[in-house]
Amino acid sequence: MKITLSVIKADIGSIGGHIKPSKRLKDHLKEYIAGEGRGLLIDHYVGSTGDDLAILCSHQRGLLDEEVHKLAWDAFVSGTEVAKEQGLYGAGQDLLKDAFSGNVKGLGPAVAEMEFEERPNEPFLFFAADKTDPGAYNLPLYLSFTDPMHNSGLILSPGMAKGFKFIIMDVSYTDADRVIELNAPEEIYDIAALLRDPERFVVESIHSRETGDQAVSVSTTRLHNIAGKYTGKDDPVMLARVQGAFPATGEILSPFNIGPYVAGFMRGSHNGPLMPVKQDSSISFFDGPPVVSCLAFCVHNGKFTESADVFDHPYWDHIRNNISQKATEIRRQGFFGSAMLPYGELEYGGIVTKMEKLEQRFVNWEK
Ligand code: F6R
Ligand code: MG
Ligand code: MG
Repeated sequence: MKITLSVIKADIGSIGGHIKPSKRLKDHLKEYIAGEGRGLLIDHYVGSTGDDLAILCSHQRGLLDEEVHKLAWDAFVSGTEVAKEQGLYGAGQDLLKDAFSGNVKGLGPAVAEMEFEERPNEPFLFFAADKTDPGAYNLPLYLSFTDPMHNSGLILSPGMAKGFKFIIMDVSYTDADRVIELNAPEEIYDIAALLRDPERFVVESIHSRETGDQAVSVSTTRLHNIAGKYTGKDDPVMLARVQGAFPATGEILSPFNIGPYVAGFMRGSHNGPLMPVKQDSSISFFDGPPVVSCLAFCVHNGKFTESADVFDHPYWDHIRNNISQKATEIRRQGFFGSAMLPYGELEYGGIVTKMEKLEQRFVNWEK
């Protein structure tokens, strides 16, 4: 059976700052999707990571379907009313346009989708990250799909012998979706040359070269490209099909133990280590650290099993402690050097005014 998995997420308001949505807001979204999605969706799941709410759903309507996207948009609009009633902070924050048009791309919410013929067993992973941007997935994906140090299947499994095709997007280009296709393993140095710059080049999708099937889909929205000003970080979602011709679940999870420094953290303007967290985790230290959650499901005839929370395991407690230390260490240097993002990536406009004023006070000394 051919199905589409869609995940659409937005920050529409949270408790006590940019921390987590209220229970009432989340319940409202669940009820809305369960009611209005009847007949349209086969199944759905609503979850939160940090201050973001995500709607994961299955259906047979294909990619960028107007009705599915409108359902999610209307759910977020309706949720915004609840957020306003409760006085939640940043109510409707990610709904950047007044009206829905066609699909949610360019309107604020992030979206990742995949359409495929279901395998008899179809396990997949649903990732959601907060206080960071889509490039945060670059390093884990590079390692899981190209490096036998993390993916033993590249050596051991005949199903992965041909490697994977990466589609990488230049997210600084705003006139169109500008992409390049590169093949691993032959072109891994070219892939690395692009992915080393996660603010500009972002993995959009990954495909098996053995079967042609899509393994990964990442949301590539950059909010500041839509709004032209700070409106929150992009907080990307990702879907990854696993096992068989794809990496095993544990091979996808393996590089997340690095906790790489990614853009985001306080005011979307710092570097912080990406911490794998449990389902429904909130945000804390220095409005961070950047977090990523991951739920594993199986889908059969479009119906989801219950989820398994893969970062809810004693192994990751130790990793989280290490990553807390990495966070503390980089925060010790405050605003200095690599602790803060370069000028062009700072998410708040205040610095522009400050720099313009200071510019006028510079003088040229005689040689
Ligand atoms: C980062 C984030 C927070 C806010 C910060 C200030 O993505 O959401 O760090 O930037 O709490 O928030 P405002 O500008 O809403 O007062
Ligand atoms: Mg937010
Ligand atoms: Mg967020």
